[in-house]
Parts: sequence; structure tokens; C-alpha cells
Amino acid sequence: MQIQKSLFITLEGGEGAGKSTLLANIKSALEAIGHNIITSREPGGTKGAEQIRELLVNGDVGRWNKISELCLFYAAREDHLERVIRPALAENKFVICDRFFDSTRAYQGDLSQDEAKLLKNLEEIIVGNTIPNITFILDIDVKTGLMRANKRNGDVNNNNKEGRFEAMKIEFHENLRKAFLNIAKNEPERCFVLDATKSPEDLLSDAMQIISQKLGEQNG
Ligand code: TYD
Repeated sequence: MQIQKSLFITLEGGEGAGKSTLLANIKSALEAIGHNIITSREPGGTKGAEQIRELLVNGDVGRWNKISELCLFYAAREDHLERVIRPALAENKFVICDRFFDSTRAYQGDLSQDEAKLLKNLEEIIVGNTIPNITFILDIDVKTGLMRANKRNGDVNNNNKEGRFEAMKIEFHENLRKAFLNIAKNEPERCFVLDATKSPEDLLSDAMQIISQKLGEQNG
């Protein structure tokens, strides 16, 4: 019998990088080989965290000051970790999450020294050792990513009107991309940069290769 240990996988990247497609494809591929998967997203993943999401992703760009925003993201994350992520991992399930703490580091990353201290404390207290085993960072040129995201938001068949962060200036998105690449550089054991311009099939194959390798290390 196969021994399944839990695996916590997160997907990160700027707007329009194609996280949702890759997430769905990884889920199907892992299920096809018999793994028990739950998928989730941040901000969100629980009733309370989804309510907090509404406050965060809608409204004016300048709706929140930095500290309020950090605390709201972390309030949502705490609920999600406690009610969904940790219980699933404890049952040896795989958790695949669309965005996690790297998004906060990147999106809310323009911080003073004191604010950075606050973020570090929030990470230590709330995330603790529930650090993802694998983080895929979908990297795409900013203009192409925003074009894809705008197309999605304007699509009449898509009810995604959550444009608060997408409405930020192009410079914000350029910095965001740099921030994600920097995280990947600092944590190469956990973070893997994927070229988001590749086809969904190629992206899945790149991701599955990394997942198999991690599983081999865990079970070996
Ligand atoms: P998401 O639904 O993943 O947006 P998209 O599909 O456009 O990538 O995430 C919602 C928005 O929240 C997104 O613009 C990124 C932002 N966000 C943060 O700013 N900080 C965070 O910690 C998280 C999890 C998301």
C-alpha cells in the first residue's frame, strides 16, 4: 500500500499568470494517481476568510492603509490555516492553495522597518511551521499578464469583478514580479519559478516533475 504523506503546495504569481488553470490540472493529475487532494485559495477558503476577502479585493485602491491590510490578510489566513489547511495536512491530505503568504510578502511588501517587523511576527505566529513544501511561482511579463487578467475581467461569462489589485499602476506590478523572483532566489528549496507563457500541458509537466521529486525525497 502506498504511504501518503501530506504535501502543502502553493501557487503564486502576478495577475493573469494562469494559476487557476495550473491548479486544476495539478489536482486532476494527482487524483489520477490516487492522492487525496483539497484545493483552496487565499484570501479565502473558509466562510469567515471569504467574508474578509470581500473587504480586501473590492473597492478603491486606497481603501486600506498598509497595517489594516496586512492584518486583514493575516486574519483571513489564520482562520484558513486553523480550520482547513492544518486539519487536512493532519489527515495526510495534499493541500493545493491558490496564493499564500508569499503573496502578502510581495503585494504588501512595500514596508517601513516597523511594518516589516510586524509582518515577520505575523508569519511566525500565524504560519509558524506550516510552510508550503512546494511553491510554484508563475512568472510572466507584466504587460502580458495584465492583458490576460483584463480580458478575463471583461469577459461577459466571467463574474470576476475583483479588480482592486489589478487596478494598481504598472510600476506596482513590475515590483511585484521582482518581489516574487526575489523570494524564489532566497528560498530555492521551496520555490520553483515556472515560465507562465508555456502551454498548460508543459506547465503541468514541469510542475509534476517537481512534485514527484519532492515526494521521492519525502518517502525516500
Ligand atoms: P486572486 O483571486 O488570486 O487574484 P488573481 O486571480 O487576479 O491572481 O487574489 C486576489 C487578490 O488579492 C490578488 O490581486 C492578489 C491579492 N493578494 C494580496 O494582495 N495579498 C495576499 O496576501 C493575497 C493572498 C492576495
